[in-house]
Amino acid sequence: MRTSFITFFQEGGWAVPRAQTSSLPSVAAELRAGHSPAPLEDMDYETASNIPFDIVVAVDSEGGIGKRGTLPWHLPEDLKHFKKLTLATTAADKKNVVVMGRKTWQSLPEAFRPLPGRINVVLTRDKTREFPLSVAAVPSFGTLFEHLMSMTAQFEKVFVIGGAEVFSQALLQPNCQKIHLTGISRKFDCDTFFPSLESWKVVSQSPVFDDHSLEYCFKEYVRE
Ligand SMILES: NC(=O)c1ccc[n+]([C@@H]2O[C@H](COP(=O)([O-])OP(=O)(O)OC[C@H]3O[C@@H](n4cnc5c(N)ncnc54)[C@H](OP(=O)(O)O)[C@@H]3O)[C@@H](O)[C@H]2O)c1
Repeated sequence: MRTSFITFFQEGGWAVPRAQTSSLPSVAAELRAGHSPAPLEDMDYETASNIPFDIVVAVDSEGGIGKRGTLPWHLPEDLKHFKKLTLATTAADKKNVVVMGRKTWQSLPEAFRPLPGRINVVLTRDKTREFPLSVAAVPSFGTLFEHLMSMTAQFEKVFVIGGAEVFSQALLQPNCQKIHLTGISRKFDCDTFFPSLESWKVVSQSPVFDDHSLEYCFKEYVRE
């Protein structure tokens, strides 16, 4: 029965054209150069944490999201969904921000990263790691918000796009407003899982679609 289909979801958006560079600063590059941003404790954290963001994820029927550093499934319609969602802005002069953990960054095919048309931010504690100039590398969630606060005129929405380690921290942030979840009805052999959706409720759900007998749907969750 299609209606017994669990909520979880699959991610999308890795299949995108080659990235161009932009003039965004790299926080990691600044740190390496000795130009550290002001420490978070010097900031109004309440203000910083007021930047709202959404999560975008795709999960299988058991909450699985990844296997050996990659996606366990191929679902082109979900990739399109991800791309459309994260690219869409109302203001033509603004982009959206996509925030990801270093392992998710590495999971993107080299030719397709940074994700084009979006401001790419990577969380990593490794200050020696190199990223393209257009990518901001930040060493903590606090620094992420600090960085975003410094460039609010440039972006419209912020999406946290994985992986599991980053999702688990993002869900703890009060400014995490919505989860865009693609739920895939089948169980895959996963080694990485989305945290519990306890205390989140479904506010919208697409019909159930079918891709060669792989059923999936798009859902939106907000906090209960
Ligand atoms: N199905 C989906 O929707 C979806 C979406 C995205 C990813 N995935 C899958 O998920 C898997 C990757 O997830 P993962 O949990 O292993 O890794 P991840 O969350 O992508 O990245 C973890 C890394 O991010 C950095 N990091 C995490 N929290 C940080 C913080 N607070 N401050 C600074 N850096 C921080 C660390 O990098 P350093 O080690 O460099 O310090 C850490 O090792 C892959 O299989 C991928 O394909 C699935």
